[in-house]
Amino acid sequence: MLPEYRSRRSCLAVPGSSPRFLDKARGLPADEVFLDLEDAVAPAAKDAARGNVVAALNGGGWGGKLMAVRVNDATTRWAYRDVAEVVTAAGRGLDVIVLPKVTGPGHVTWLDLLLGQIEQGTGDEAGRIGIEAQIEDARGLAGVDEIAAASPRLRALVFGPADFMASIGMRSQRVGAQPAGYVGSDAYHYPLLRILVAARAHGLAAIDGPYPAIGDLGGLAEAAASTAALGYDGKWVLHPTQIDVVNRAFSPSQDDYERAELVLDAYRYYTTEHHRGAVMLGDEMIDEASRKLALVTAAQGRAAGLRRTQRFEPAPDGSAGA
Ligand code: GLV
Ligand code: MG
Repeated sequence: MLPEYRSRRSCLAVPGSSPRFLDKARGLPADEVFLDLEDAVAPAAKDAARGNVVAALNGGGWGGKLMAVRVNDATTRWAYRDVAEVVTAAGRGLDVIVLPKVTGPGHVTWLDLLLGQIEQGTGDEAGRIGIEAQIEDARGLAGVDEIAAASPRLRALVFGPADFMASIGMRSQRVGAQPAGYVGSDAYHYPLLRILVAARAHGLAAIDGPYPAIGDLGGLAEAAASTAALGYDGKWVLHPTQIDVVNRAFSPSQDDYERAELVLDAYRYYTTEHHRGAVMLGDEMIDEASRKLALVTAAQGRAAGLRRTQRFEPAPDGSAGA
């Protein structure tokens, strides 16, 4: 997982119909930016938006961000042209396609094949462009395991709360917030955990969807902290003011990051130098499972720009010192 891990703490939505917003997004500190051709763009503006998105990708200046385009869903008349025009003209500036409203594995297979055809035509590296699949209705959630297994291009599953709420009939207009009257603790727990398990079972990232109440940064912080604690990699943001809140929520703490780096060093040292699979690090027993957890936290911390202040020192008596 480590060499391929790309930080997706904040994934910023930018409407493809607005050259001004596309330009402004370059300088913002989001880990991923997705240029939207779907629900943020009116039907009459879809054709022009493709041109804006191609120009924005080819214009460069994105500073190492993970670059994505959200195309229209596979059942629409726009989808094949979104993919063909953007990837043919600007595929080299693109890391992933966000595919919305995925209701079964066939949608992902369609996109995988189409990308392969375009790559043959352009001579670009086969299979480099990834796919993030949005799970945002009852059918998509029911088929999430097959969807997660549908293509080696898949990088992430993304929860789409607004469309999902509409699909299941949740009685609330406040997307991402708890519906009034619900007596359970978290109305989103089931889809969030279901998507997370399917993602992890196939080695994919899991991303939570938007919190559209832009003025409610407290509510956003609470929602982001909750999905971060559950295990999600990041969350969508719709406005520049949401980015820092979400980046903070999905960054490991300095202590957790330091600890993860120490676990990796200690485990590497004792398994190779002493051929031991379980050792004490301070007062905690660590083993292969600890290493796996530590790999993720260390990678997230490095991606978030955290720096180590402690070095691993093996204890002279052969036990692992911290
Ligand atoms: C995002 O696409 C959502 O439907 O919430
Ligand atoms: Mg949606």
